[in-house]
Amino acid sequence: MNRFFLIACAILLAACRAPVSPTATPAIVATNAPTATPALAAKPLVVAHRGGAALAPENTLAAFENALKIGVDMVECDVHLSKDDAVVVMHDFAVSRTTNGSGEIRDLTLVELKQLNAAAKFFGGSAPPQPVPTLAELLDLVKGKAGIQIEIKVGAGNARYPGIERKVIDLVNARGMANDVIVISFDFPTLKEIKTIDPRIKTGALVNATWMTTRLLAPPEKIIADAMDATGADYFMPPASTVFEELVKAVHARGLKIGTWTVNTEADMRRLADWGVDAITSDKPDELKRVLGR
Ligand code: G3P
Ligand code: CA
Repeated sequence: MNRFFLIACAILLAACRAPVSPTATPAIVATNAPTATPALAAKPLVVAHRGGAALAPENTLAAFENALKIGVDMVECDVHLSKDDAVVVMHDFAVSRTTNGSGEIRDLTLVELKQLNAAAKFFGGSAPPQPVPTLAELLDLVKGKAGIQIEIKVGAGNARYPGIERKVIDLVNARGMANDVIVISFDFPTLKEIKTIDPRIKTGALVNATWMTTRLLAPPEKIIADAMDATGADYFMPPASTVFEELVKAVHARGLKIGTWTVNTEADMRRLADWGVDAITSDKPDELKRVLGR
């Protein structure tokens, strides 16, 4: 399969992508005890997308607890700023797709967000209610048990949240978790800001299928340079359907790592693992572990 075919498929897939289909429900636990830093040396890293969005209500503590039980290497989450500048965990900048509320996170206080049920749309609302987590609560949950990819999102109209980078880093460093996180974003200035504030924090440059398609004829080295020169990131993170073997090799030749998303089929898991990608993000981390024989 050549990369042009893969990228064409990626565009079609992105256009046709259906919402993640749920398959099970879990429970909640939290801890703040200092523990050994996870090595994060496994390859590929098994990353639970939104906590494992096919298995539990996405971006809830229930999902992240479930991912810890599965034994993932990392969880992935998405963060925004509330009206009163709390760093909260949710994918969309508006609350209506996943909760029983309406409006934008930026227009709601943390108290108002905490009144919502973040499991309201999972299984048609039949799952146990879950609050909207703060990043602080999630960090306390995973500390010493798994790494965490923190995706810094933007608000309506691609508006950046002023100061979110500093808030995220402060939450991470307050818990001594600098070695446990990768801050990821599609927004390149956000990634540059993270490195400016704290160069120790690993970052991942997310690019989408359209971004990859505009570089369809470019050599792998040029594709990688376009993202990594602009961000100083440690990980190049394209969607799985746009990854090809020479791209993986070129990332490694540059001394960097490649993580890819969102990988939910056995064939894709095997192909990407065989090519040597460093991190695979999946809605089904249990299936990914099985395929990898872990
Ligand atoms: O891991 C990267 C992936 O999460 C980016 O896509 O839309 O799920 O945030 P999205
Ligand atoms: Ca994400």
